[in-house]
Amino acid sequence: MKYALLNSLLGSIMLVYGIGLTGAGWLLAWLGIGFLIIGIAYARRKAAVFGKRSDGTLPLWSWAAFLPLHLYTLAVWHLIRLLSGESASDSLRGGIVIGRRVLGHELPYGIATVVDLTAEFQEPARLRSGPSYRSFPILDASVPDSDILRPFIASLPAGPLYIHCAQGHGRTALFTIALLMERHHCQTLDEAQAMILQSRPGARMNRQQQAFLQGLYGGDRPEKPAPERTSQGPDDLTTNTSINFPKLWSHVITACPPHDSFSIHGPDHWRRVERNALILATRTGAKIHVVRLFALFHDCCRLHDGWDPGHGKEGAKYAASLRGQMFHLSDEDFDLLSYACEWHTEGKHNADPTIGTCWDADRLDLGRAGMIPNPAYMSTEFGREIADHGVIHPWVHLAESHQNEPGTAP
Ligand SMILES: [Fe+2]
Ligand SMILES: [Fe+2]
Repeated sequence: MKYALLNSLLGSIMLVYGIGLTGAGWLLAWLGIGFLIIGIAYARRKAAVFGKRSDGTLPLWSWAAFLPLHLYTLAVWHLIRLLSGESASDSLRGGIVIGRRVLGHELPYGIATVVDLTAEFQEPARLRSGPSYRSFPILDASVPDSDILRPFIASLPAGPLYIHCAQGHGRTALFTIALLMERHHCQTLDEAQAMILQSRPGARMNRQQQAFLQGLYGGDRPEKPAPERTSQGPDDLTTNTSINFPKLWSHVITACPPHDSFSIHGPDHWRRVERNALILATRTGAKIHVVRLFALFHDCCRLHDGWDPGHGKEGAKYAASLRGQMFHLSDEDFDLLSYACEWHTEGKHNADPTIGTCWDADRLDLGRAGMIPNPAYMSTEFGREIADHGVIHPWVHLAESHQNEPGTAP
């Protein structure tokens, strides 16, 4: 109601003052009428007030009726874009990127679907015509209708998403938290909010938006699909003595779409990295549970198969979010896992047997990308020996004893 009153008050003042002025006073009055209509729209929570179409365009009547307001909104947006030091977009895990409205060339690479939450802007043409575009207009600083929010989220296709409002703050945070909750990426609102603020500190919601989410997800969670029972091992994922790898794999694969079977960095690659690491560990003395966790997490947050800086760090962050819930790991071992994930692309060599084994295991699978592993990039003696030989097959039997263990990834 605050925005309804503010817009109405501002509109009334502009209208009265504009009428009283000579010359360009009509322009002020025109702008005032626009604000007055927006005030009414806020009171009735009508995001359709600007007539935004599902293809992201604004109709001619909207430009005619609200021209001064549209020009004012665009000018303020560009001013903030140019003067604000905030990044245009920030990655969450699981192929979700959030941010402000972007110009065509600013769209992060590899995005499959753009979700536009603005009601007041026409979407730039390149975004509308490029990846699959979905419009879900919400008034600035306001909330959507919960009856249409959930079906809309359910209708979103798999694949990397770019979710944006005008500045990538309130509306973006609200929608993304709802998405994280609906897709069971997070268990609580606090967890989802913390995840968003960690990536984009400016993505804060107002009280109305927080109350809206509290009403939707503050009580019981939406019904969660029954987890797959793939394990022959212990049911308790949080046991201190073992990690239930099949359940962990199942959880990560579900939570980190998209990784289709054709992806060179998808689960097939993770499994080969795990096998390679188990082979290497027979001689390097690496910590088995750490290298297996590395295999699972190091590429799970990749957005695509191209240049994706930061995906290792995102993988480490994701592993941290599951630590204590899905698996336990000592601080010392988690530091190894975290470092190995974060630096697996940029790191050259590492003398630590566990980190070296992780990186060698990953680099020995370069054949999938048509590259022959180079011994010069190996950290361990055994890695160099295998790379020198050209193929890993003579040593595959070394991993079999581990891969037959209960709790080993399928
Ligand atoms: Fe990677
Ligand atoms: Fe990898």
